[in-house]
Amino acid sequence: MLRIGLIGFGKAGRAVAEVLQEHADIHLAWIARRSPPRSGDPFPDLQQSCTSSDDYAQLFDSKPVDALIDFSSPDSIEAYGPPAAARSIAIVSANSAHTPEQLALAQTLGRQTRVLCSPNITLGINFLLIAAKSLKKIAPWVDIAIVEEHFRSKHEVSGTAKRLATALDIEESSITSLRLGGVVGHHEVVFGFPHQTVRLVHDSISRHAFGTGAVFALQRLLEQPAGFYQLEQLMLQHVLTQLAEDTIPA
Ligand SMILES: NC(=O)c1ccc[n+]([C@@H]2O[C@H](COP(=O)([O-])OP(=O)(O)OC[C@H]3O[C@@H](n4cnc5c(N)ncnc54)[C@H](OP(=O)(O)O)[C@@H]3O)[C@@H](O)[C@H]2O)c1
Repeated sequence: MLRIGLIGFGKAGRAVAEVLQEHADIHLAWIARRSPPRSGDPFPDLQQSCTSSDDYAQLFDSKPVDALIDFSSPDSIEAYGPPAAARSIAIVSANSAHTPEQLALAQTLGRQTRVLCSPNITLGINFLLIAAKSLKKIAPWVDIAIVEEHFRSKHEVSGTAKRLATALDIEESSITSLRLGGVVGHHEVVFGFPHQTVRLVHDSISRHAFGTGAVFALQRLLEQPAGFYQLEQLMLQHVLTQLAEDTIPA
């Protein structure tokens, strides 16, 4: 049984906690957040208030875990990272906006334990990234555009769309953003060939997809030695290993 501590119990953390509870081989040992539990919140007995490294060190020693899944805020790794690494606790951080200094800290922690940082943790977006990069390798000259759709109140261009543009080496001006009602999240990469068009599409349905991605990330991470990893890299490695094991009929 894998013992997990979840850090962050906001919009994403709540959905992730539900996904973790569904896994028979995972034990959700505790949930850390900034503030004390509020009445009416789910999982009241699991919640702990943690803000400092001392808080986390005490928690790790009183309720040991094998791994952390972090959906809190980019700065929280500064508090839990050093005491977790000192105890060889694996870290999956899903926070989207680490500073260069926080990313450097995560890489340093990778000298002591397994660390994975993934600003886009859904299986679908990581698959889309790998598939899009593969097609670009096949046809480096193809025209590429990105369309992203989100709910009306999201003002900024999607970070995922920008990441796709960077990975495909195209300008951010190739991204078209549509803001429509309550769309949760839609990303589409369009490849324009002379005689055919290929579209890779991902639609987010619920935040529970973050939990599915976090569990996959953790499973792959635990197959690795100590180090710093990204989900796309571990997913690609997993796919290539699985494909190599497939026997091709003669
Ligand atoms: N990689 C992905 O695909 C992905 C997807 C979704 C979200 N995220 C990331 O997940 C994080 C949370 O997003 P959200 O939408 O759930 O935010 P949110 O609703 O504001 O929730 C944040 C939660 O984290 C807790 N928290 C914040 N700072 C903390 C700290 N220093 N130490 C301990 N707990 C802390 C808060 O505690 P209180 O409840 O006590 O205030 C709250 O429970 C963000 O960094 C976001 O970028 C990533």
